[in-house]
Amino acid sequence: MRYFRSPILLILVAVLGYSLQACAAEPANPSNKENPIYSAPATASVTEGDIKSLMYTVLAEISSLQEYMVSEKKFLDPKNDKVIANHIQQLSRLSTQVLKTKKLQVPGYRLSGEALDSHFQELKYAYNSGNKKYARWMLSATPYACASCHTQIAHSPKPLWELNEKDLSGSVFEKADFLFATRNYAQAEKLYTQMLRSYAGDTLPNTTLDDQQIETVAKRKLSIFVRINRDFKNAEVSFSKDLQNKKLPKDLHENMKSWITQLKSASKQDPKILGKPMKVIAHAAKVLDKLPRTFVSANNPQLVDVLNVSSLLYQTLHAHPRDELTASLLFWLGVADLSLNNEFFFSLGSTYLKECMREFPKTLVARRCFAEYEADVKNLYTGTRGTDIPEEVAQELKFFRARVGIED
Ligand code: HEC
Repeated sequence: MRYFRSPILLILVAVLGYSLQACAAEPANPSNKENPIYSAPATASVTEGDIKSLMYTVLAEISSLQEYMVSEKKFLDPKNDKVIANHIQQLSRLSTQVLKTKKLQVPGYRLSGEALDSHFQELKYAYNSGNKKYARWMLSATPYACASCHTQIAHSPKPLWELNEKDLSGSVFEKADFLFATRNYAQAEKLYTQMLRSYAGDTLPNTTLDDQQIETVAKRKLSIFVRINRDFKNAEVSFSKDLQNKKLPKDLHENMKSWITQLKSASKQDPKILGKPMKVIAHAAKVLDKLPRTFVSANNPQLVDVLNVSSLLYQTLHAHPRDELTASLLFWLGVADLSLNNEFFFSLGSTYLKECMREFPKTLVARRCFAEYEADVKNLYTGTRGTDIPEEVAQELKFFRARVGIED
């Protein structure tokens, strides 16, 4: 297992062994004997409350899969069936366990946790039923699922321990994605920047990126600066340097220019807004109310603003005790996510709106949540042949309409 030979990971193994042994409850199921991370805590277990140790176990599993994630050949090779199926099985088990942790009881994390869990259950189902190509696609979408939680709260871009990019397989793009998923933001950002600056049409030493991928690169980089580092100033400086690369696709070039303008104004924002939920909500309303709900594409002039607002909302949601303001926070998070769509993270827009109606049905905000949710559903099921809402979705609409007290 090439991946675990790096000294840093061996240190991790030691730390992990210790931290897992320090906890109690369900056994960590040390099924893969070759994997030192598993053999270390043979009798170890994970408390329901300790998300960090669980995360390291998730990391160990996903790291063992990394070489298969980046190689279709290896992923499809029947010789690797058992190993892959086993790691996927572990991931699906772990994600269910993550759901039970105390830390997940805030709606922000809980909803993302549920999304992660259904992601891995679906992945397991696809793999086990022989739908391997789809399974691989799902697996490669995992960074979005991981980021959906990790990018909610600003924190140090440096994780407790770092992965060594040299130990990862695949192209620069694939490595950066993996680093991004595992919260190695500083290293991921370095690679994203390197790709933006050396992009030469569609050829790079190690990889071939198409227009869409280089756009993903730019967006991931933006999300690190805005959501994790919350450092608008350096984002502006760094993106301005990237712009010196005249080979970047024309559209992207234009977008980055408008991001820079928004970053400039974001850096003038009052940092004290964070401790004031009412102010955050008012600010969200100002930015989001006029926005089209579906698809803020990268060239939307308000992209930085939406990312920034959703970051403020998440941080407030995490810091604020659950009360009626929570309904408003969920409402605006839903609206922000509907506009960001799947472009950045897993789209949880309608999930937040449903949570708002489920948890705070008697509030006025719940009715606004319903209006947004209904509009989104209609939009989703409207095509050239008119609106055709499937029965189960119609039932759900009916349920929520009644729940928030709107007459049919
Ligand atoms: C449901 C929310 C959630 C999801 C989804 C999630 N994580 Fe986490 N993760 C957390 C939280 C919360 C922490 C921080 C724990 C702390 O600092 O107390 C964390 C921390 C980590 C860390 C520790 C990094 C450090 O600072 O040392 C790693 C590694 C990690 N997660 C990997 C993953 C991977 C890989 C995925 C996707 C397969 C993932 N996580 C998905 C919530 C989540």
